[in-house]
Amino acid sequence: MNRIRNISQIYKAKPTLEGAGVHLKRVFGHAEVPTFDPFLLLDDFHSDNPGHYIKGFPWHPHRGIETVTYMIAGKVEHGDSMGNKGTIEGGEMQWMTAGCGIIHQEMPEGDSGMLWGLQLWVNLPASHKMMNPRYRDVKAVDIPEYKAENGVRVKVISGKFNGHAGPVKDIVCDPEYLDVSVPAGKKFEHHVARGHTVFTYVLEGAGYFDPDKKKAIPRENLVLFSDGENVIIEAAEKPLRFLLISGKPINKPVAWYGPIVMNTEEELRQAFEEYQKGTFIKN
Ligand code: CO
Repeated sequence: MNRIRNISQIYKAKPTLEGAGVHLKRVFGHAEVPTFDPFLLLDDFHSDNPGHYIKGFPWHPHRGIETVTYMIAGKVEHGDSMGNKGTIEGGEMQWMTAGCGIIHQEMPEGDSGMLWGLQLWVNLPASHKMMNPRYRDVKAVDIPEYKAENGVRVKVISGKFNGHAGPVKDIVCDPEYLDVSVPAGKKFEHHVARGHTVFTYVLEGAGYFDPDKKKAIPRENLVLFSDGENVIIEAAEKPLRFLLISGKPINKPVAWYGPIVMNTEEELRQAFEEYQKGTFIKN
């Protein structure tokens, strides 16, 4: 097996409508199960037209997953069935474990200006699907940024870079979530765990994501890597910014409908029945 990971597949984000009519781009989702295991979905909402996002994501349930919202610009206000309320702003992240169930809403704020955020769904193993819900709200100042000698900058949100750990810890799939900026023509090299699913999503610029360097891959494309121990990424002629995300696969059946992801159809049926009856929330 190769030590350096190669490109396994490239996915281009596709326009879609979600929530109450939010125009966003879906990078991967339901159709790709189980390719990205333990990850289920990645959405990129990026618009300077409030008409594209202001309707937001009104009250809806989640069970069996974690939703990870990383804002690059703009603001999203959230509230939930446990009475939590807050905003996620540019540079901040919310790592929410829905576990046995929450009902929440996510509403973009502001009637002018740019909104840019990413939402990742992370599956939970059967043993944790019914865990108590929890939140990790990460402020921008709590996300360490490391600067390498060649000018590469890495914000570590979860996992480790060069021995420095990010603030989001104790997550079941042992994830890494890095926001990486690479100056034009420079290289980023990173050790990743063998056997873990690893992908990058290009936010800005374009880059080469394997040693072949056949073609520079531009923004709004995702690179899924083959197995191996290292990734080597080089910026093309402009600065490159991307997210690097990795996690340990769960390798179990996925029963998924809408915002609820369980292991069996019976568990799904039960979740929707509880939602109808008003017994969905356990605490
Ligand atoms: Co939600």
